[in-house]
Amino acid sequence: MRMELLITALKSFVFINSASSLISLLDRLSNSNILIFSISLDRMAFSISFATFFFAFLALLAVVVAQLSPNYYSSLCPTALSIIKGAVSNAISQERRMGASLLRLHFHDCFVNGCDGSILLDDTTGFTGEKTAFPNANSVRGFDVIDTIKTQLESKCPGIVSCADILAVAAHDSVVALGGTTWSVQLGRRDSTTASLSAANSELPSPFSDLSDLISAFSNKGFTAKEMVALSGSHTIGRARCTTFRTRIYNETNIDAAFASSLRKNCPSAGGDDNLASLDTVMGDVFDNDYFKNLVSQKGLLHSDQQLFNNGSMDSQVNAYSLNSATFFADFAKAMVMMGNLSPLTGSSGEVRTNCRNINGS
Ligand code: HEM
Repeated sequence: MRMELLITALKSFVFINSASSLISLLDRLSNSNILIFSISLDRMAFSISFATFFFAFLALLAVVVAQLSPNYYSSLCPTALSIIKGAVSNAISQERRMGASLLRLHFHDCFVNGCDGSILLDDTTGFTGEKTAFPNANSVRGFDVIDTIKTQLESKCPGIVSCADILAVAAHDSVVALGGTTWSVQLGRRDSTTASLSAANSELPSPFSDLSDLISAFSNKGFTAKEMVALSGSHTIGRARCTTFRTRIYNETNIDAAFASSLRKNCPSAGGDDNLASLDTVMGDVFDNDYFKNLVSQKGLLHSDQQLFNNGSMDSQVNAYSLNSATFFADFAKAMVMMGNLSPLTGSSGEVRTNCRNINGS
């Protein structure tokens, strides 16, 4: 009886794979004496191996279903990628820094419970999102650009392109527009119906972190220390507020003296918290390997930046990237794909938000 059930299950598996000849073979086997003989000998072994096979098949199916793909919108919304690219290019032509801000939005989305667009949700009465978390408040920007893109996409292909995917593509297009490298952006993420203020506060790295904290913050998300260094190369673009680097320019000794004194002019020891400085003082809005050159000459803006080159285990990697932008670009591209793969919602999980700021129907 149990054997018959197994054969029925196996038949339906074979049916899925359209191997009708194997079905008829199983039909013949199920009526044969040989089978009865083999049941008595191998019943246990067959049950166990079939169960293993069946569960492995289910696991594989789950992985296949959950997989993102670069062609996800090819037929669902063929103009999606060009709409995003056009809007990103337009935003950057109005303000070059916006490319940096869009890249950071994707990072801050992915590191907090995966790339699910949770960072875009506005607070409402009864719902607290991630925007007021310490690393985000008065800091992350680019929400209007995402709104513009979403509005354009909704008028072309309503309900199709997720906010999480918009962030992933906008980050990529920003890096390319600012002179950086390209990668194949995986797509098909869906949007969360939740957000986590506490995870945003605890899982995003702090500019006051030492190397060991940075390594563990990234290792918690599955990245090696080398991948953490490559991703940190993002600080070749964009700005930071005085409040994030004040202690470094007034109190630290592993900093180039002229560099520190020039920064002090616009970042007083008290006040001016929101005054900005370029994270890369050489060529601020170009995506290149200057960030690593800066670190080698003790011109990292944030305490956390200079930690990557401070007589520690990452010095040689920073040195290598400072000398070879091609290896930095290659490693950065790989790490960005990894980052974009952090716990995406797929299949019927989550939703595709109509407005990136609100859960549908709220
Ligand atoms: C390694 C740990 C990291 C720390 C501690 C860190 C911290 C910071 C801080 C404090 C700022 C300035 C924020 C402000 O003053 O408002 C900043 C800016 C920025 N970060 Fe990071 N970050 C890290 C890694 C990353 C990664 C992995 C990426 C991207 C993949 C990234 C992309 C950016 C960009 C592009 C900016 C400039 C944003 C703008 O100008 O609007 N950062 N980061």
